[in-house]
Amino acid sequence: MKTLVILTHPNIEKSRINKAWMTRLESEENITIHNIYKEYPDMKIDVKKEQELVEAHDRIVFEFPFYWYNAPALLKMWQDEVFAFGFSHGPNGDKLKGKEFMLAISAGGQEESYRAGGMQRFTISELTKTFENMASFTKMNYKPAFVAYDAHNLTDEKVKESAEALANLLTK
Ligand SMILES: Cc1cc2nc3c(=O)[nH]c(=O)nc-3n(C[C@H](O)[C@H](O)[C@H](O)COP(=O)(O)O)c2cc1C
Repeated sequence: MKTLVILTHPNIEKSRINKAWMTRLESEENITIHNIYKEYPDMKIDVKKEQELVEAHDRIVFEFPFYWYNAPALLKMWQDEVFAFGFSHGPNGDKLKGKEFMLAISAGGQEESYRAGGMQRFTISELTKTFENMASFTKMNYKPAFVAYDAHNLTDEKVKESAEALANLLTK
């Protein structure tokens, strides 16, 4: 299965988690890492090129740090422009049908804070329902999100372990 990772981090040089994931995944031959802030520093997305890239893969992963309970801005723009009427939905818009879809998210908050009654009040699964619904609407198979919590306190060993776990998941 060929996997396309849409990596969205506005400052990948300063990143620990997403950079470690990117570096680990880059060594896998069936995984394409597509760093969209690097590709489009002017935010002018080449929609045709992106759609061709999507079509050439069986699994789409959105990888990003959680920013205000969502993805950094460029991913929303990418989604709005690339998953367009007539491509992903609407008449003949079946190009995503049957693909696998997954989120890979790093979050500063602790796992136990993401629950009813906790500091963050909702689980990440609840907070990412719009992505799940997008996958359902476009007939993709949604897989549970891969999440690294407590991002700033993870030891280097734990970061490495999470990169390995993500690589295992995406090479199945
Ligand atoms: C603008 C901004 C918004 C953030 N919002 C959240 C948030 O809503 N929830 C959360 O758990 N962490 C939040 N964080 C923390 C980031 O998720 C964390 O810094 C990131 O996952 C670390 O990954 P990295 O090492 O790849 O940069 C935010 C950070 C920034 C800069």
